[in-house]
Amino acid sequence: MPKRLVYLDNAATTPVRSEVLEAMLPYLGPDAFGNPSSPHRFGRAARAGVEEAKRRIAAALGSGVEPGQVIFTSGGTEADNLAVIGCALAARERGGPFRVAVSAIEHKAVLAAAHAVARLGGEEIILPVNGQGEVSEDALSEALARGVAVVSVMWVNNEIGVVQPVGRLAARCREAGVPFHVDGVQAFGKIPVSLHDIVCTLLTISGHKIGAPKGIGALVVRDRDAVEAIIHGGGQQFGIRPGTENVPGIVGLGTAVELAAREQAAFAARVAALRDELERRLLAVVPDAVINAAHGPRAPHVTSVSIPGTDSEALLMHLDLAGIACSSGSACSTGAVEPSHVLTAMGVPRDLGVAALRFSFGKENTPEDVEALIGALPKIVEKVRALSAVLHR
Ligand SMILES: Cc1ncc(COP(=O)(O)O)c(C=O)c1O
Repeated sequence: MPKRLVYLDNAATTPVRSEVLEAMLPYLGPDAFGNPSSPHRFGRAARAGVEEAKRRIAAALGSGVEPGQVIFTSGGTEADNLAVIGCALAARERGGPFRVAVSAIEHKAVLAAAHAVARLGGEEIILPVNGQGEVSEDALSEALARGVAVVSVMWVNNEIGVVQPVGRLAARCREAGVPFHVDGVQAFGKIPVSLHDIVCTLLTISGHKIGAPKGIGALVVRDRDAVEAIIHGGGQQFGIRPGTENVPGIVGLGTAVELAAREQAAFAARVAALRDELERRLLAVVPDAVINAAHGPRAPHVTSVSIPGTDSEALLMHLDLAGIACSSGSACSTGAVEPSHVLTAMGVPRDLGVAALRFSFGKENTPEDVEALIGALPKIVEKVRALSAVLHR
């Protein structure tokens, strides 16, 4: 019998949904392949697909968003860069502060963009987080008092799932007259994401986390004056993000966003139950395991678990051999396993940081997946611990 494969790495990426693929296909074929900037019928057919996608995305994000505010990008990484670097450049142009403030647990797409601002002669302020991953609002106050071009704080963290109070943070930034960017890549479709009463200036979403293809995302830009383009070309998308639009990807994103918004509540209830079951049973078979950020507000689809006396790379390899895919909360740099910047910023001790696994659920997961993991894990933990004990003797 072929080995049962278990995919618990949905925060990394998800398969393309059949409805999404179906919606995209006409835009790859002879009827609607045109350039959306062309005025002829081929172009108009493609343009109609783009406009419909904008309309669907704006509608899914609540009544505070207009279709014209949806700017398509090559994914979450580009949207994050456009937000952080684009706001910094726009502020410098106006004679404002060439300085950005981002939380310590942002995705590398935001953190590296902030470093890029610093390398360009600007400044980056890193807002610390507490032991549950919640961003320091005192540090935000200090940054706002100094003056910044943009504040960027993610809605849901991709490793530990902590949910930030973005509504409150957005209001604080609005009061100070500072643009606020939210990386919503791990939030959209997982928790209610409506900008109806959240006064953020910019929001990033990414297609491949919600059943659209890789390489398509969007930045919602509610104030065009707040950002300057970071790539240059034709006048597409108001010049904020020029380049011929990825029409099939955009159509796929529009469909995926609409479906994810419609299904969010049911999805969240289902995966939260799976996550809770995983945590409960994992603690029963590995009693000294530690659930990271367990006591903060968390999104339903992610859990980060440290297993003392192991290292995550070894666990990951053994789990893969057993047909179970998950992710580590550590990074392999120059051959040595290092805890992730997220766990480090939360103050997780190094030995637990290097022993962290991330399990993330998607719409295909079932209780049998949890069953398979719990069945395989104790032996793997035993093996990795025995090896670790020999290596560190
Ligand atoms: C929170 C967050 N932001 C940004 C990104 C980057 O998105 P993309 O893979 O579409 O570039 C990811 C993807 O891992 C993410 O989880």
